[in-house]
Formats: sequence, C-alpha cells, structure tokens
Amino acid sequence: MIKPKEFAKRRDHLMEMAGDDSVIIVRSAAEKIRNNDSRYPYRQDSDFMYLSGFNEPDAMLVMLPQEKSGHVIIFCRERDPQREMWDGLMAGTAGALEHVGADEAFPISEMKQRLPELLHGRERIYYDLGKDPDFDQLLIGWMNDFRSETRKKFLAPDEIVALNHNLHEMRLFKSRTEITAMKKSARVAASAHQSAMQICKPGLNEADVHAELLHTFTRHQCEAAYIPIVGGGANACVLHYITNRDLLNDGDLLLIDAGAEYDGYASDITRTFPVNGKFTGAQRDLYQLVLASQLEAIDEVRCGNPWEQVHETAVRVATEGMIELGILKGSLEEALEEEHFKDYYVHNTGHWLGLDVHDVGEYEIDGHSRVLEVGMVLTVEPGIYIPESATAVDEVWRGLGIRVEDDVAVTKDTAEVLSADICKTTDDIEALMAL
Ligand code: GLY
Ligand code: MN
Ligand code: MN
Repeated sequence: MIKPKEFAKRRDHLMEMAGDDSVIIVRSAAEKIRNNDSRYPYRQDSDFMYLSGFNEPDAMLVMLPQEKSGHVIIFCRERDPQREMWDGLMAGTAGALEHVGADEAFPISEMKQRLPELLHGRERIYYDLGKDPDFDQLLIGWMNDFRSETRKKFLAPDEIVALNHNLHEMRLFKSRTEITAMKKSARVAASAHQSAMQICKPGLNEADVHAELLHTFTRHQCEAAYIPIVGGGANACVLHYITNRDLLNDGDLLLIDAGAEYDGYASDITRTFPVNGKFTGAQRDLYQLVLASQLEAIDEVRCGNPWEQVHETAVRVATEGMIELGILKGSLEEALEEEHFKDYYVHNTGHWLGLDVHDVGEYEIDGHSRVLEVGMVLTVEPGIYIPESATAVDEVWRGLGIRVEDDVAVTKDTAEVLSADICKTTDDIEALMAL
C-alpha cells in the first residue's frame, strides 16, 4: 500500500514545481452510468489517486503552495446515513482529512462558495481543462469576474496552466513502493496466465478462459486492469479483440493479453500458446521469432538507451526472421526502409505502464526519443499478425497472431522484468500444459 507520507511527498513536490504564486486544482473522476440506473464499478482518476489515495467521487484537491510546506484542502461528499444504507460507508470530511492527510476538509457542496476565495492572491491556476466542461466554465467565469472592475482589489489568477506536464513527468518515475505494487500486480497476472494455460484445451470456449483470468484476479482482490483479450486462432489478429466468445479449436493458438490492477497499478501481459498444449512446426517457428525479438528488445531496456531503440531492435529482429521464414521477400534493408514489416508487425513495441495501462509521460523531448532512466516502467510487446486474408504468404502462416508482452522496470543495472514468473519458451509452455 502507498503510505500517506508518500502522497504528501508527491503533493509537496508538485507544489514546489508550481511555485508560491499558483494554485493547483485536481478533481476526482465522476461515477459513470452503464445503462439506465446501473453504474460501472467506480475507478478513480489516476492523477487524483496519485496525489490523494482517496477513492471516492465528487471530490477535489486544492493545493496552495506556500513558502515552507503547502496548504492542502480536500472537498468531498459529506457523510449521509440514508445514502450509506445503499452504497456503503463514505469517508466524509473527517475521514477524508485523515485519509488524505490534508490540512482542511470541506463538503463538496460548499465548493462554489469557498473556491473563489482560495484563488485570490494567486497568479495562475494549474488545472487540466477539458475533463469536465461544466467545471471549466465555472472556473473561467470566476476568472472573468475577477478581471471585472468591481473585483480589481484582488490579485487574481489570469492564467490557467496545464497541470499534466509536471504531474505526468512525476508519474513516469516510479518509487520503490510503486514498483512493489506493480510487482504484486504482475505476480497476480502471472498466476492468472499460468492457470489459463493449465485449464486450456480444445472444446473450451474463449469465455471459459476469460472467466479463469477474472477468477484469479478477483481471488487476489485485484481488478482486471483492462478487458482481457482472449483470442483463439485468427481472432488473435484482431488487436483489440474483447468479444471472447468463440470456441477454442484443436491445432489453433490462443493469445491472451490480460493484466491485473493492484492498489491502482496495472500490469499488462501477453502470452500466446497452443490450445492443445503442443506447438505445430510453423507455430513454433513464428513464436520463437517473436520471442527472440522480445528478448533482444528487453536487452535494450537500459539506463541511457533511447526509448525508440527498444522498438527498432524488436522490429529488426522480427523483420530479419520474417525474411528467413519467407513471410517477407527482399533484403533486410529494403524491408526496414520501405517498412514492409508493417504488413504484419503493426503496432509499436511498448508503452509506459503505471496507474494507467497506457501510462502518462512524454516519449519524446524536443522532437527526440527520450532516454530511459531509473524508475521508468514500460512494456515490451512485439507481435506478428498474419490475417487469414494474407494471400501473399504461404498458407501455413495464415491466421497466426502472436504477441509476447512483459512489464519491464529500468534499474541502475539490467532491466528488471516484473512479469518474469510466467513461462514463455516453447518448451516451458508445453511442459506446463502437459502437467
Ligand atoms: N493491453 C493493451 C496493450 O497491450 O497495450
Ligand atoms: Mn497488453
Ligand atoms: Mn501493452
């Protein structure tokens, strides 16, 4: 669990970056209706979670940087016994004050009355416009008000600055406690993937395997970090396949992309394995190529290497192998330069990982790929997808979709693979499935 001290440290750091003449506003996520009066399970906004650890809707953090330590105010729902009978306990202002470690807490119903006062004396507001148009209008309305003649007596903000640059840069670098949470998330996902391999057999439905994944996540008090992809046969070539309702056929591969969410932190893992536990010759060849591409790419995850080098390495190895297997024609130089590999290697090789599966943080600085640094966590996930319609290649390859994805932390030394617990060589997969 992330401790209150760490949340306070994050807020202090953000306030220091923002400067004494500013105010920072961060709002919770809204509850979302699924249909009629049924709601989706609540998921807190990741920025709000990162700064508060507070998991309720209708809340807002106001941070007022000051010379020594900043002043932190939380607005939240007041406790309501009537509502608690339906929805369970709420923290209320007293609970939120303690949980968040704020200096003051007020009911969210008082926000409109109190917030304008808090803005006085500040030159700029750090706030991310665009998430809630109603609140954006409120804020802009107040600022216009401040500018009008009658209010000139106040020093008032006349600028709204995007918060996400500073905040997302902080989120990109994970602390030791964050890495520990991410390891736990990866361990739970590892256990889910291994159980899926163990129960898988021809005649099951993709839905059976999907259920097995959710069973493991739930037993470990985790959520699914995203809807799992459970694609048998050519369904693996549909990158965002989440229907998960087809029969699993003897002789096909199964691609599973599933990650857990623990304490807000995601894992994001893909394994591809034979439904019947035994790779065919072509499946083995293509799988080993994707795996070789992934292992070489992981080797590039080192402090000081440019981020894009991971992708470039994965693509080079995969392209070389596709030429050797006869899937691509021509020379390696030509296939890379003219991007023929993109016929079958269609996505990037990874992304930042953290509170969001596709986590925040810039990939480029001043138009150049940023360099990997200690504390960054990324996925490494090469994939080759040959649709059934790919008549340019030999029939044996058609309908194969293979991705291998792991979560990797940049450390001082070699990369640390957080999801190393799941077998991924053809031999290890076959041995596990034969048990
Ligand atoms: N699960 C989404 C991704 O691999 O990026
Ligand atoms: Mn994934
Ligand atoms: Mn991914």
